[in-house]
Amino acid sequence: MKFISKKVVLVAVLVSVAGAVVLLGSMKSAHAGPEAAAEPRLDAKTKECVDCHLERRVAVDWIRQWSVSAHGAKGVGCPACHTARAEDVDAWEHEGFTLTHVPSPRDCAKCHKREAAEFEASHHAKAAQFIGSLDNFLGEVVEGGPAANLGCKQCHGSQVKLDAAGVPVAGTWPNTGIGRVNPDGSWGTCTACHTKHMFRKIQAREPATCGRCHMGPDHPQLEIFEESKHGINFAAYRQEMALEADEWIVGETYTAAPTCATCHVSATPTMNVTHDVGARIAWTLRPIVSKKLENWEAKRGQMRAVCLECHGKTWVDNYFLMYDDAVELYNDKFGAPSKAVMDELKAAGAITATPFDDKIEWTFFELWHHEGRRARMGASMMGPDFTQWHGFYEVANHFYNRFVPEAEALRPGITAEVLGMPEHGWRRGLSAEEIEEMLKYYEKRYGD
Ligand code: HEC
Ligand code: HEC
Ligand code: HEC
Ligand code: HEC
Ligand code: HEC
Ligand code: HEC
Ligand code: HEC
Ligand code: HEC
Repeated sequence: MKFISKKVVLVAVLVSVAGAVVLLGSMKSAHAGPEAAAEPRLDAKTKECVDCHLERRVAVDWIRQWSVSAHGAKGVGCPACHTARAEDVDAWEHEGFTLTHVPSPRDCAKCHKREAAEFEASHHAKAAQFIGSLDNFLGEVVEGGPAANLGCKQCHGSQVKLDAAGVPVAGTWPNTGIGRVNPDGSWGTCTACHTKHMFRKIQAREPATCGRCHMGPDHPQLEIFEESKHGINFAAYRQEMALEADEWIVGETYTAAPTCATCHVSATPTMNVTHDVGARIAWTLRPIVSKKLENWEAKRGQMRAVCLECHGKTWVDNYFLMYDDAVELYNDKFGAPSKAVMDELKAAGAITATPFDDKIEWTFFELWHHEGRRARMGASMMGPDFTQWHGFYEVANHFYNRFVPEAEALRPGITAEVLGMPEHGWRRGLSAEEIEEMLKYYEKRYGD
């Protein structure tokens, strides 16, 4: 039914620009927000793209989305993003137009200079520069290329290659990985967060937008957020979040809960929106041993300013002290000591220089890359189950019961120094009093 009625209007569009506007208006959906209330403004070139695409039924939904977007309302037509010059490396001749098949951040930068510059300076833009990393060896070699194309690279970004006509080739595209290497030499994709052709803020403010990449065993930020009181309040009071507002300022436009964007991207009464998601981050939680980043005090200050829009000073400052302690605990008790053992095994020739051909390399990889990150990330964003059961519990279990025995089997005595640290001293045994106290607790609690 719906399909037929659309088709009927499709014919009307060919009659005139006015007809096109009526059609596009009738194609508006529930997605349309206040800024989309205006009719789309079609310049002559855009009208050519729209008319022919509607007639040939190519990318019809992109046209509907564009027509209800801020771009449609402001007359930013198809050529504004898709036009190329004949000498551009990504030029593509299409129906009498010289276009690009792959609009990049450089095309957006014509109008959104600040956002593009901030994004370019961020870790996001560099996310495909991972050649040489352990993860890359794992994806490309240990697993295999086709897995990396639809796995790693869909989050991190591919290197997009074009054929002689300027059409992107399979294996490299479609891809909206956050650090994609574009044919024009620029890095990244704005569509990673602003899906085409709506390009709306409302969608980028949704936790699910970030959660497409920030989830899973090695960086479960979405799951951590959902289990936190912030995520619970977001779900319960979603209708009070004013997600559709043009200016979205925590503490002014909304107070019910923060989302990922609130803490990492969006405005506060004293700070602008930033497209550098690292601007408010003090630690990096990704490596084997976490480090405080350059200018970390200033970055912490920016994050703290977000928290203080809702919470009191003692609450926030105490939380950060507890978070820093948890990261240091992981670093000092498990991260740095296990790395020292691995380095020694390698230096002694007990394992080879090739990654992942010794069992202990998998054990160690999971220790820091999976549970070690979960412990730190759970602590950073108020997710107690990820801090504890998916985090420190598994770190301790795998450290004592897998890593240490595997290292000892390869080179007896190698963990003696590490296990001699006061933090691991409990393994030498509890005192009679401590055992007595523990037994008493269980007797009182369970009566046996
Ligand atoms: C006279 C008809 C016509 C005009 C005008 C036209 N297109 Fe197309 N376009 C098509 C057809 C048909 C296809 C389907 C692919 C093909 O067969 O080339 C297409 C494909 C595309 C694709 C590639 C989609 C894919 O994944 O393969 C893009 C991008 C595109 N058009 C953009 C535009 C833009 C932007 C304009 C206006 C500047 C435009 N087109 C004008 C007919 C047209
Ligand atoms: C605000 C910029 C912008 C505008 C305006 C715009 N596009 Fe696009 N378009 C993009 C981007 C970005 C991509 C995705 C490129 C990528 O990820 O490789 C894209 C991709 C496409 C594709 C290919 C993707 C697919 O799924 O097949 C088509 C077709 C297309 N656009 C058609 C149009 C048409 C028709 C219009 C006008 C109604 C239009 N675009 C307006 C930015 C824009
Ligand atoms: C579901 C999306 C997703 C997939 C699939 C994925 N990653 Fe990641 N990767 C991420 C995110 C998100 C981060 C950043 C996590 C953080 O900061 O907490 C990351 C971090 C990394 C880092 C650390 C970068 C640094 O600056 O320290 C490397 C290296 C990496 N990934 C490589 C890979 C490789 C190689 C693959 C495939 C074997 C892969 N990733 C698969 C999303 C993904
Ligand atoms: C990591 C996700 C993400 C990426 C990637 C991203 N954006 Fe955004 N963008 C957002 C969020 C979230 C907002 C909404 C901020 C707010 O709350 O108002 C936004 C808002 C915007 C706005 C509205 C004006 C403003 O500053 O609030 C523009 C324009 C914009 N982005 C352009 C871009 C461009 C251009 C790129 C690529 C260079 C890009 N964005 C890449 C998340 C992203
Ligand atoms: C020719 C100029 C131009 C180009 C090129 C352009 N934009 Fe825009 N963009 C605008 C204008 C104008 C607005 C509306 C601003 C307003 O209403 O204040 C806008 C608004 C936006 C918004 C906010 C929409 C909302 O929800 O209110 C986002 C996000 C955005 N653009 C992203 C992009 C991305 C991504 C690209 C590249 C793929 C791009 N733009 C290319 C002019 C442009
Ligand atoms: C398409 C995948 C993808 C999306 C969508 C995405 N990210 Fe990321 N993000 C990554 C990857 C990959 C990295 C690690 C980059 C690296 O270090 O190489 C990362 C890193 C980060 C970092 C660490 C930055 C730093 O400087 O240490 C933060 C914070 C972050 N992302 C927040 C967000 C937020 C908030 C959103 C949503 C508004 C988001 N991301 C959307 C893939 C993504
Ligand atoms: C209440 C605010 C808040 C919310 C909501 C929030 N974060 Fe965070 N995030 C933080 C803080 C605080 C840190 C740690 C900053 C530091 O180390 O100083 C952090 C750290 C991170 C990191 C850095 C990890 C690394 O490798 O260094 C990423 C990535 C990230 N968050 C992504 C997300 C995503 C995705 C969401 C939503 C699913 C989200 N955050 C929701 C406050 C928040
Ligand atoms: C938009 C408002 C808002 C912002 C911004 C915000 N929070 Fe919250 N936060 C809340 C609400 C609401 C709760 C739930 C209150 C309750 O305990 O009943 C909460 C709860 C918490 C909790 C208690 C978690 C638990 O499980 O009991 C901590 C800790 C916390 N926030 C820390 C922070 C930190 C640190 C920041 C900044 C990185 C921050 N919050 C930013 C609104 C906010």
